[in-house]
Amino acid sequence: MLEVSGLNVKYGDAQVLWDMSIKVGAGEVVAVMGPNGSGKSTLLKAICGLVAIHSGQIKFEGKDISSMPAHNMTSIGMSLVLERRRLFPSMTVMENVMLGAYAKHARDKTKERLAWVEELFPIIRERRDQIASRMSGGEQQMVAIARGLMSGPRLLLMDEPFLGLSPKMVSAIVTLVQAINKRGIAVLFNEQNVQLSFGNAHRGYLLESGRVVLEGAGLEMLQNETVKRVYLGSH
Ligand SMILES: Nc1ncnc2c1ncn2[C@@H]1O[C@H](COP(=O)(O)OP(=O)(O)OP(=O)(O)O)[C@@H](O)[C@H]1O
Ligand SMILES: [Mg+2]
Repeated sequence: MLEVSGLNVKYGDAQVLWDMSIKVGAGEVVAVMGPNGSGKSTLLKAICGLVAIHSGQIKFEGKDISSMPAHNMTSIGMSLVLERRRLFPSMTVMENVMLGAYAKHARDKTKERLAWVEELFPIIRERRDQIASRMSGGEQQMVAIARGLMSGPRLLLMDEPFLGLSPKMVSAIVTLVQAINKRGIAVLFNEQNVQLSFGNAHRGYLLESGRVVLEGAGLEMLQNETVKRVYLGSH
């Protein structure tokens, strides 16, 4: 469904992604793991048209979207949940969620999507009038994901969805990602933790300094010697 091939991205003169190729199949959960500065966020932004690509190709459902402007993202069936949630802090939970449904194509399905989202995230209904900034970090992440789902994506991209959350909230979000995926939505997410990334994905990619250095099934990645040695500190 998503095919990135030979992607190169530069910020000014500094190249940060090098010949990167990754794929997400329909219905798959794919994790991109890498240390700080390895290019995880840049990859997601390039896919969504938030940063320009220097060369290479991005295809979504067979269509070349390499030079698509970011504002077309939701109408083609992709949605991005940004790092650190990025809610509108002084708006209510429901106002934040409904922002995800502003696109024209999403409007006629708003009611049924909201019902689904409220079923997945009961907290949306329970706290609908609460000001977003008064929610906990994990609750805000739920609101951000709910907002991302309101446009009816077939591919949900998430930049470090577990960042800064308590273990309990992390498992709640993992469960939600599984529930979302069960509904046929493919997921591509970034994460710095080996277990959290590869342990919760069908397939994974390891990035180092803007390059894919390893890829494979999630469980294979978890058991890979290099991954274990470098990222799990085992010898
Ligand atoms: N807007 C920008 N302008 C210039 N350089 C940037 C910009 N955004 C990111 N970079 C650089 O690009 C490289 C990749 O950054 P990116 O944010 O994609 O990494 P990341 O893997 O998401 O890191 P983190 O784990 O810290 O979120 C880094 O060296 C970073 O300093
Ligand atoms: Mg990042």
